[in-house]
Formats: sequence, structure tokens, C-alpha cells
Amino acid sequence: MRRPVMAGNWKMYKTPAETTAFFEKFRPLVENSEHCETVICPPFTDLAAAVDAVRGSRIQVGAQNIAWAKEGAFTGEISGAMIRAAGAAYAIVGHSERRQYFGETDETVFKRTLAALEAGLTPIVCVGERLDEREKGITKTVLVSQFTKGIADLTPEQFARIVIAYEPVWAIGTGKTATPEMAAEAHRMIRGQVWAKYGSEAVAAIRILYGGSVKPDNVKTLMAQTEIDGVLVGGASLDPVGFASIVNF
Ligand code: 13P
Repeated sequence: MRRPVMAGNWKMYKTPAETTAFFEKFRPLVENSEHCETVICPPFTDLAAAVDAVRGSRIQVGAQNIAWAKEGAFTGEISGAMIRAAGAAYAIVGHSERRQYFGETDETVFKRTLAALEAGLTPIVCVGERLDEREKGITKTVLVSQFTKGIADLTPEQFARIVIAYEPVWAIGTGKTATPEMAAEAHRMIRGQVWAKYGSEAVAAIRILYGGSVKPDNVKTLMAQTEIDGVLVGGASLDPVGFASIVNF
């Protein structure tokens, strides 16, 4: 059985004080949520406040990006060792907003994934097609290409330590969720790639999360799909009560 990962990506929202206030409400609501891993990925400047606030609970903290280099002249970047030292356990890699606005490519996704693994972090590697790509009927081609160039050069040992998130770009922040069937179909495409490259044990073990307009009222039908092993939630993870109800779907 794959243990679900219920992850929140706060994007560029919340100050440290707001982070502390979030966890004061959120923590008691997920105290007994042993069915899953609960992860919050706040902005870098909130990592310390978040790690402080979750101490002694099962909640884990992640970064939203990670440098591929260990250290050096990389203005504005944060290394895996720094993220680890801050007390985080996860790092989102290759989010579509980074691909769209900050020049992230499959090559840099791969390098950042390696950096996360080297630092002892669990990378949540994001893939997903844009609306124009879905409309052109090339969703599978896009997913295969993102997998081949951004993931498939990992060794089997490295691959065993990652989590994949399928986030169709057209469903992010738009209120348009992929139907559970559409999401499951995309997850099966990704699993097909995993099978071809890493074999059946890896297919059985890899956790593939769905992201894109996940809300308290649609999480249950998404999680009912055996292909979906958790969610990566943007907007709806900012509210402690709402995100707790997602975690406790
Ligand atoms: P929304 O849940 O706001 O659509 O964002 C999804 C997302 O990008 C999570 O990484």
C-alpha cells in the first residue's frame, strides 16, 4: 500500500507570523491523521517558523524550489543543505510556475532533483501539460518527454526516493479540476513510463500526486482513484480548516 502524501504549496503567500497562526489552527485538526504524510511547503522565509510550529507533530515541511549547486555565486538561490538545515524534509521541483516564469527546463529539473536527493530531501517532481498541449492531443507526448528528460536518468535507488506530482497547468488556480478519470489516465501514462524504465516494483511503490484546483469538496472523488496517491494543493492549502479537511478526506 502506498502511503498518501497530502501536500500544500503555499506559493508566494504568508509571512512568518501568518505561518505561526496557520499552524496553531491546523495542528490540532490533523493530530490523528496517521493515514498519510502531511506536508506544507511555505516560502523560504517561513521555513523556520513552520519547522518551529510543527515540532513534535507528524506534519512535515518542504521548500518550493532548491538550487542545483551545493553553494557558490548563485544570487537568489537556496541550497539543499540550507533547506535541510532549516529542518525541511521535502522540496518541490519543477513546478509549472517555475517552468513558465523562471526558465525552468527538464534539464534543470533533473539537476535540482539530484540536489534534493543528495541533501537527504524528498523531491516532489512536478510534470503536467499546458492547455494548448492538451487541446492538440499531445498530453502523452509532453508527459513522456518531461519524464524522459527530467526524471528517467535517476538510478533506481534515486528514483525510489522521489514523489511525482501530476499538475495539468490548465487546472492550476483556475477552478477547473481534471476529472478524476482524466487525472487517473494521466497517472497511468506516467506509470507506464515508470514501468518501462524502472520495472514493476517501482510502479507499485511510486507515489503520484494530483494537483490543480483540489478543494475540500473534490478531494474525496480524486482520492477514490487507485492511481492517485495524494494531492498537491495550492490555494486551498492556505486555510487551516479547509486544508485539514483535505488531509482528512
Ligand atoms: P491550486 O490548488 O491553487 O490550483 O494550485 C495547484 C498547484 O499549483 C499546487 O502546486
